[in-house]
Order: sequence, then structure tokens, then C-alpha cells
Amino acid sequence: MLKIMLLVILAAGLIGGAAGAIHLLRVAQRNKKEMASFQAEPLSYTAHLGKVLVIYYSRSGHTQDIAQQIQQYTRADLYRIELETPLPNTPWFYLTLKRQLSTGNYPAIKKPLPDISEYDVVFVGSPIWWYTAATPVLQFLREMDFKNKKVVPFSTQGSNYGTFFEDFAAHAKNAQVLKGESFNNLPAKYDDAVDNKITVWLNALN
Ligand SMILES: Cc1cc2nc3c(=O)[nH]c(=O)nc-3n(C[C@H](O)[C@H](O)[C@H](O)COP(=O)(O)O)c2cc1C
Repeated sequence: MLKIMLLVILAAGLIGGAAGAIHLLRVAQRNKKEMASFQAEPLSYTAHLGKVLVIYYSRSGHTQDIAQQIQQYTRADLYRIELETPLPNTPWFYLTLKRQLSTGNYPAIKKPLPDISEYDVVFVGSPIWWYTAATPVLQFLREMDFKNKKVVPFSTQGSNYGTFFEDFAAHAKNAQVLKGESFNNLPAKYDDAVDNKITVWLNALN
């Protein structure tokens, strides 16, 4: 009996591992195809967006990287959403965050919120958590009034941003939401292509 149980566990592990490997291969192929379309010569930033603020939350640095690149192109000011209490770092961390999403019990964020009155365009960046915005960003949206400003969402994710852009538009109070962009986490060999992807996006916002 024990032997059979061990065999079942082993088989389940092998099937899970194979499914994971196939998923990663597919994502890598999709990334390669998408980035090929941005791998030409470096493009120039030509937009004139006025005074820009880039607001973002980032737990492990990916969203911060994109926020800083937008900042460099647009000469923006940066505002990082910070938590009152750090998130737990338990092995069941993913499930804790899923529960925050399902209960609407989002973590408290530090004040003051940014004063956006002097800006022409406000970018808001979020990591994707469980196919939507990270809970600190959802909490930020709960508390923020965009006062009819132009607001541009962006996300970073492994491979699937789910309903982020719809959810963002539904929760960004009094925002004129412009076309956002999503960025998969990619190996460094795609850095130049990512630069071009950002440039194309920003230029189209003009
Ligand atoms: C709790 C949690 C849930 C996640 N859910 C998704 C997801 O649904 N889709 C996806 O493509 N990536 C998902 N990811 C990966 C993150 O979106 C990705 O690593 C992101 O770039 C992290 O941003 P940061 O480094 O700025 O924190 C998840 C990560 C965490 C921690």
C-alpha cells in the first residue's frame, strides 16, 4: 500500500514538473516572438507629456525597474507606495496575498499620498498578483482621487496580467485612463528590446 502511495506521489510530481516545464517553454517562446518586434535600432523618445509623476509599488524590484525607465524618459518624479507593516515572508505567502484579494482586506499603506495637482500625467505601476493588481496598489486606489488627471497604468508579471487593466480602470477614481502597457519579466538579453517597447508606448501617448 505504501509502495503504491509513493508511486502515485512520484507520478504526480513528474506530471506537475513536466507541465511546469512546458508552460515555461511556451512563455519563453511567446516572449521571444514579442520582443523580436522591438529588437530594431534604438528608438528615440519623442513624446511631450508635460510634468509626469510615476507612482509604483514593487516587492522584488521588477516594477521599480520599469518605473525608473519611464522616469528617465519623461524626467518624472517618482512616488513609491510603501506598506505600514512589511508583508509576511512565510512559505504560504502566495496564499496570504490571495486571501487579501478575495477578502478585500488589503494592507495599510504609508501616508501622505502624493499630491498630484501639479502633474499633467500620472503613471501607476503594479506587479500582478493572482491575475490582478497587487493589494498595496488596490489599497492605494481605494484611497486616491485622481481628480480628472490623465492616468496610465502599467504592470509587470511572469506571463499573465489577467484582468489588471480592466480592474485598474474600474478602481481608479476620477481618472482619465490612457493606454497602459504590461511587461513580462525577461532575461537581460532583452533589455534593449524592452527599452524600445517602453519608447513606442510612451510616444503613442502623446
Ligand atoms: C502573490 C503573487 C502572485 C503572482 N501572480 C502572478 C500572476 O497571476 N501572473 C503572472 O504572470 N505573474 C504573477 N506573479 C509574478 C509577479 O507578477 C512578477 O514577478 C512581478 O514582476 C513582480 O513585481 P515586483 O518585482 O515589482 O514585485 C505573482 C507574484 C506573486 C508574489
